[in-house]
Amino acid sequence: MSRQNRVVRLKRRPVGMASRDDFEIADEPVPQPGEGEFLVRIDYVSLDPAMRGWISPGRSYVPPVEIGAPMRAFAAGYVEASNHPDFTVGDAVAGLLGVQRYAVSKGTRVAKVDPAQAPLPRWIGGLGMPGQTAYFGLLEIGRPKPGDTVVVSAASGAVGSLVGQIARNMGCRAVGIAGGPQKCRYVVEELGFDAAVDYKAGHLDADLAAACPDGIDVYFENVGGEIFDTVLGRMNLFGRIPVCGMISMYNATEPPAPIRNIRSILVNRLTVRGFIVFDFQDRIAEANEALGRWHAEGRLKMREDVRQGGIDAFPDVLNELYTGGNLGKLVLAL
Ligand SMILES: NC(=O)c1ccc[n+]([C@@H]2O[C@H](COP(=O)([O-])OP(=O)(O)OC[C@H]3O[C@@H](n4cnc5c(N)ncnc54)[C@H](OP(=O)(O)O)[C@@H]3O)[C@@H](O)[C@H]2O)c1
Repeated sequence: MSRQNRVVRLKRRPVGMASRDDFEIADEPVPQPGEGEFLVRIDYVSLDPAMRGWISPGRSYVPPVEIGAPMRAFAAGYVEASNHPDFTVGDAVAGLLGVQRYAVSKGTRVAKVDPAQAPLPRWIGGLGMPGQTAYFGLLEIGRPKPGDTVVVSAASGAVGSLVGQIARNMGCRAVGIAGGPQKCRYVVEELGFDAAVDYKAGHLDADLAAACPDGIDVYFENVGGEIFDTVLGRMNLFGRIPVCGMISMYNATEPPAPIRNIRSILVNRLTVRGFIVFDFQDRIAEANEALGRWHAEGRLKMREDVRQGGIDAFPDVLNELYTGGNLGKLVLAL
């Protein structure tokens, strides 16, 4: 039997949570690399919350995936054929390759990685885009100082788990917000955060006050909505809020509720700044060096939640991000 590619293409724009019917999943011929291109056999696909935004219409920081186009995704695999001077057969690579078994690349937003240093899924996790996001968002926008209290939401996830650990490495008190006792235990006992708050327990404001007796200097925002509002009310003077994501709103079909504590931005002279990891594209080597060093020194623990099921499992596994089904970086094995 000849080799086939298997590809997830966007069929229509979802309303609310995406379903399998929003995608076309089919076998296709394996693409052939042209001049200056190489062919990658993909072994792992990264599931990222941003995917829901990438398939929505309208203005964003990147154009939406077009109807009929392969689903955009970070992925990792091995070069199988190459007409590119910098990539050789057998090289391990990671980058924007799409939800498919085989991809042809010109090398744009794809980099060689070292599977001897860390397993392949980690290069689309803590040593890849999510790690770079935590690094730049916290250090450049959060500007933590030793002794600061740093709070991060979605604390057990790909980005949040690193934010708290980097904060600790900077001499800060790290407090995570996560859903459920298992995730909260993981954040404190395995990752070394100083405290964790279970937002599903129903008394976030009181629990946050107990976990942050000196108030909050930096809030790394991953979630939005009610959690954002509650943390705003506990920010210290001249606090910083890197706005990384707002996952609670990505599948919303209704307008968000008004933010009650918005006045905190004025009275506390807060800096609230959104960012996209691509803003720091020309400094990626700096982040990779620091992340790799902390990881090698055991000062940055990383966990991947690798799911089986191959290409066809993509739509269902993606939705686990929005229901909190993942513990650590969510990855699909092909
Ligand atoms: N700006 C950038 O360049 C950039 C880059 C990468 C990621 N991001 C953003 O960073 C955030 C985290 O991404 P990630 O890849 O690290 O994902 P993740 O944290 O590994 O997974 C998502 C987690 O979000 C939490 N969550 C989902 N729905 C929620 C809700 N309604 N309320 C509260 N928590 C909810 C869940 O954890 P619980 O069980 O704890 O609720 C879930 O496990 C996302 O907002 C993402 O868009 C931004």
